[in-house]
Amino acid sequence: MWNRRDVLKSLAAAGALMQAPAALRPARAAAEPDLVLKLTAAPDRVSLWPGPKTSVLRFTAEVLRGRRDAVRPSASYLGPTLDLRRGERVRVHFVNESGEPSIVHWHGMLVPEIADGHPRFAIASGTEYVYDFEVRNPAGTYMYHPHPHGRTGLQVYAGLGGLLIVREPHETALGLPAGEHELNLVLQDRRIDGSNRLVYRRMMMDQMTGVLGDRVLVNGAPNAAFKVARRGYRLRIANMSNARIYKLAWSDARPLNVIATDNGLLSRDEGVQERPYVVLAPFERVELLEDFGTRAPGAEVALVSREFDDGTTMNMMGGMMGGGMMGRGMMGGRGMMGGMMSGGQGEAMHIAEFSVAREAAAARSAVELPAAQLRPREGRYELRTQLAFRHMRGFLNGRAWDHRDPTVVADDERLPLDRASVWTFSNDGMGMGMPHPMHIHGVRFRVLERSGARAPVDLREGVIDAGYKDTFLIFAGETVRVLVAPTEPGLFMYHCHNLEHEDGGMMRNCHFA
Ligand code: C2O
Ligand code: CU
Ligand code: CU
Repeated sequence: MWNRRDVLKSLAAAGALMQAPAALRPARAAAEPDLVLKLTAAPDRVSLWPGPKTSVLRFTAEVLRGRRDAVRPSASYLGPTLDLRRGERVRVHFVNESGEPSIVHWHGMLVPEIADGHPRFAIASGTEYVYDFEVRNPAGTYMYHPHPHGRTGLQVYAGLGGLLIVREPHETALGLPAGEHELNLVLQDRRIDGSNRLVYRRMMMDQMTGVLGDRVLVNGAPNAAFKVARRGYRLRIANMSNARIYKLAWSDARPLNVIATDNGLLSRDEGVQERPYVVLAPFERVELLEDFGTRAPGAEVALVSREFDDGTTMNMMGGMMGGGMMGRGMMGGRGMMGGMMSGGQGEAMHIAEFSVAREAAAARSAVELPAAQLRPREGRYELRTQLAFRHMRGFLNGRAWDHRDPTVVADDERLPLDRASVWTFSNDGMGMGMPHPMHIHGVRFRVLERSGARAPVDLREGVIDAGYKDTFLIFAGETVRVLVAPTEPGLFMYHCHNLEHEDGGMMRNCHFA
């Protein structure tokens, strides 16, 4: 495992010692945090279905100093929601009692290198890791989850993960629904056996598609049902599934109104995005503004995931063997392989039920989105990464994760600090063509354009590239250009956020200096 000296050594080797992350500077360490939390990962048994309890791993948290309301416990295996304020200095004592090596990553958060939860910082069970960071992100819906190499999929599936919400005072001034009119929905698909045990399979098919479940749990519980008033709600939806892509829609076919994506609210110029459905890939988030006052008193409406074909192809010969053969039939729910098990990628799924109160509708209040944020100046630096999937694993520019040297960075994985660079991802390597949810640590970026093959027709209208993102879905044959301006120096990483692809090595370091 890594110690502080190794960290310093690797920073020095990268020529970055002068810009050591804030947490490494002694002066910074002296600053007193506003909030001190203890976050523990440990096994537990929870009652999810009638019959035997289900063994899980779960996060629990405690406020050691500061605002008591910074931790909102969860009723199920899901970790508590961490409710943070922009500008707060936070210290987290992560206590690993999970029984295996682990480390916590704050997905989407701009934190110093050593607080990022890189797999090289994984700690043994029975030990503790201390994080110090200042909340720099704008208000939004973020997440925390384990990030040890090769075990992330299993640990998340077993229950480790939770929401991290960042708030800012100006949000209330925008007229957004708050308090009990703000609902969180963390979506996870799971499969259970006859004894209520979570089934985490990694057969050949699961290596390719990632591990999929046959039912959707919301906030760690089956059969999610919400009673809602006839008024506006802010729904924060996070996809914390290992591999499932959702095509979110209302059962009554009303459009969805998106006000935020991964890294916070859309700007006034971008406006509310009204879509017939919304595509949400693993670890992406959206926030919806939903006026249940437009539904009849007593109405029942469900949030569902509609059926789709994700465009998986064999492109050994430049795409000649098209989607038909290796499409949903073989990879997913129905057809040859799929017939053995339900819940393939693209199958229709029920998510949650909303029962609208029998009452008069509240007057609609106007919601205003914030002004656009200043864009960083565009530099002339360009990076290119080609994605490929073959022999059951993913590659980034032909390389996979190097578990013998977790600090290795290639020249085409370095980006300058404080300048906007264009990073072009193309999903057209030899092998199988399939969608990959790509994620970059330590930055928030903008999707500039998509070219090459178009998104599958089933999903096209629901792909949202507006706002600041930290994860984006790239379809088979597609090229996506993102604009990224790192602000935190050091060694971070980028990877496919299909957790089985990530654990299989579709993950690399990137260095910002
Ligand atoms: Cu959600 Cu590497 O992270
Ligand atoms: Cu991340
Ligand atoms: Cu992938």
